[in-house]
Amino acid sequence: MINLRKSFLDSLEFVNNKTAILRIDLNLPIFDGNVSDFTRMDKITPTIKGILNRNGKIIIISHLGRPKGINNKELSLKQLVPFLEEKIESKITFCNEDIFGKKIERIIKKMVPKDILLLENIRFYHQEEENDLSFSKRLASFGDIFINESFSTSHRNHSSIAGIGTFLPSFPGSLFEFEIKNLSKIFRDSNRTTVAVLGGSKVSTKLNLINNLAKKFDKILIGGAMANTFLSSQGIDVGNSLKEPKLEQEAKQLLNEYKGKIIIPDDVIVVNSDKPDSNLTINVDSLSGSENVIMDIGPKTRKNFYNFISKSEILLWNGPLGYFEKIPFDNGSNYVASIVKVMHSKKFFSVAGGGDTISCIKNSGFYEFFSFISTGGGAFLELIEGKNLPGIEILNN
Ligand code: 3PG
Repeated sequence: MINLRKSFLDSLEFVNNKTAILRIDLNLPIFDGNVSDFTRMDKITPTIKGILNRNGKIIIISHLGRPKGINNKELSLKQLVPFLEEKIESKITFCNEDIFGKKIERIIKKMVPKDILLLENIRFYHQEEENDLSFSKRLASFGDIFINESFSTSHRNHSSIAGIGTFLPSFPGSLFEFEIKNLSKIFRDSNRTTVAVLGGSKVSTKLNLINNLAKKFDKILIGGAMANTFLSSQGIDVGNSLKEPKLEQEAKQLLNEYKGKIIIPDDVIVVNSDKPDSNLTINVDSLSGSENVIMDIGPKTRKNFYNFISKSEILLWNGPLGYFEKIPFDNGSNYVASIVKVMHSKKFFSVAGGGDTISCIKNSGFYEFFSFISTGGGAFLELIEGKNLPGIEILNN
């Protein structure tokens, strides 16, 4: 059971005329200098505004990409300043001074209530990912309290996530709190009928997840390329489709152990690798030939998945059910996601998150009908795998 002992409101009691070190996640998708999705930035603006309304000073810390301790201009947070200023309707001072230097100390000292200082990409310092004690201590010395508003990095044992909090009173941000509240709802009520939809390409990244969910959920519906490894483990010829032969034994064991609970596709849409424009629906028992590449779940499987969800009260969704980036292989995911609209007004709680899931759900047109969509990728997965996350543990200490 995931729980937070403190709340964002608790932090607001302290911020008047004080400096809050605020860890956010500005790791936005940027292609050719253009940000393609601002969801994470949009969702943290109430927290920044909340601190400013209480007369706090804010030092923002974030990462962008994986620069591995090297100063890389392309990953500078400076490029995000105008966007963030527009969202929060306040001026931001960008600071790329050396964290260990005297100049940064002078800049911080001059801050007055409602000032915001954004530090340069914290991963330009190798000490960040090493969770270096003196680095954390130095960062902590800049403020009076620490607020973690970066649920999506809470699985990282890094200085700005799990280190600063050892030196300062620490609190979750409002989005962080909202994430935990919603994600814990999935596991809270064992009397409710639960179903998990799991897709994506690799079983290897989802084994722990399947093991954890199979113990707690009533049904696990498996699609996407990872279903191919399960199909292959049953002696089905998946041809040229993506699969992980080394994991077939484990997949087979899971299917035996959780017979009737883990459901894999009955039919699939295949493309013939010699004729890329071909597109056939085949029952998995009739699959044969190395030229076949599975691209999506078939109509029978879609209906089956849809019906299972329609009989449930809680839905957890992670991963696409087919190669959704290429039309028409988004049809399987789209059809199954459409049930969320039908169930929307009923006593039904639906959560999606992790990796490609958000783009897949957005593409389906049913995004707004989900009860909650997590901003977490890896953090979301690790949390629902049942792992303890360093970013949560430190807030509860
Ligand atoms: C994410 O995008 O999931 C978070 O920002 C974490 O990024 P990371 O996987 O590079 O730690």
